[in-house]
Amino acid sequence: MAFLQSLSLFQFKNYKEAQSYHFDSPVVCITGKNGIGKTNLLDAIYILSFTKSYFKHTDNQLTHKGLQGVRIEGNYLINNQSINTTLIFRNEKKELYYQGALYKKYAQHIGKIPCVMIAPDDLDLINGGGEMRRKFIDMLIAQISPEYLEHLMCYQQALKSRNLLLQEMKMYQREDKDILDAYSNELIRHGQIIFQKRCVFLQQLIPTIIAQYQLLQNDQEPVSITYKSQLHEQDFKQLIDSNYLRDRSSMRTQVGIHKDDLEFMTNGLPSRTFASQGQKKTLLFACKLSEWIVLKEHHTFPPICLLDDLFEKLDPERSQYLINWIGQQSTGQFFITDTDAQRLTTNFQKNNASIQLIALT
Ligand SMILES: Nc1ncnc2c1ncn2[C@@H]1O[C@H](COP(=O)(O)OP(=O)(O)O)[C@@H](O)[C@H]1O
Ligand SMILES: [Mg+2]
Repeated sequence: MAFLQSLSLFQFKNYKEAQSYHFDSPVVCITGKNGIGKTNLLDAIYILSFTKSYFKHTDNQLTHKGLQGVRIEGNYLINNQSINTTLIFRNEKKELYYQGALYKKYAQHIGKIPCVMIAPDDLDLINGGGEMRRKFIDMLIAQISPEYLEHLMCYQQALKSRNLLLQEMKMYQREDKDILDAYSNELIRHGQIIFQKRCVFLQQLIPTIIAQYQLLQNDQEPVSITYKSQLHEQDFKQLIDSNYLRDRSSMRTQVGIHKDDLEFMTNGLPSRTFASQGQKKTLLFACKLSEWIVLKEHHTFPPICLLDDLFEKLDPERSQYLINWIGQQSTGQFFITDTDAQRLTTNFQKNNASIQLIALT
């Protein structure tokens, strides 16, 4: 079980003064008016798991405006062991400590404290470009397999170098075939492993998402999800070789696992263009709940679950489904924000779930 027992914030976003919160319940409800810092508090918990903000905020934006230095500290109970994680950002430098020891690489931390953020406005996962879905898959697999993240980082580095070289070759009318081949080999080596891992992992994730979707959806419009990759059709080396001229003229690597995507279809049509807002939200929730389920299966405990503005953005039926779902979980910790404390307590009382209420003022 991953359980956050306390969180301390110093100069973090709107938390200017040092603040500490103690959590003693599996369901923590955070209430307060708009702009008070509910989402920021969830983001702090997210940062302690992923070393960066959920909301694309840069490390600089984490510090209270006009001040220098920010500190976020969490004390957890993970499988009956007390775990401390502290993040400090000052003088443009980020430091992350785990049990008092400074990490050399932040990537080593990913997966230690599994965590899922569910924010209903996140429809980019459905509406946005492929990079949103790749990020979703990557961050999920990375929390399960540290080697995956290593391969991904090596791949991205090789891709960057290869693209840069392609630009230089064009600019200076040069032919650096040997160096280009070296980068291509790096891409192929790491890309093949990433592709294999995505295949195996998505075989588990996709049916889980579809099952969750069906549980959430009443009108039963069928949804299908397909893992798209150029590597399904052709060997990566052949792909690279046959695209050499195209890569040269466009100065970019046009083939590889950085073009992979997850294709969502509702009723046989692409969900991003044809699904209704409600269907998209359902799909998003199905993805996020599946993330929680799959992480729980791979670790020996469920991830920490952060639910932002759930009841304001969801219709009563889906809200009720989620409350029941949370109530049914015998393990796991859930942090839920809402402007309306009454709404939260009434909803959970119906379910006999014991909750901790934190009212931010
Ligand atoms: N770096 C920062 N310094 C100071 N205030 C910040 C910073 N980042 C965000 N805020 C403030 O935090 C508030 C938003 O908090 P948020 O957690 O989104 O509120 P809520 O979710 O309760 O509506 C805003 O008033 C915003 O100006
Ligand atoms: Mg908010």
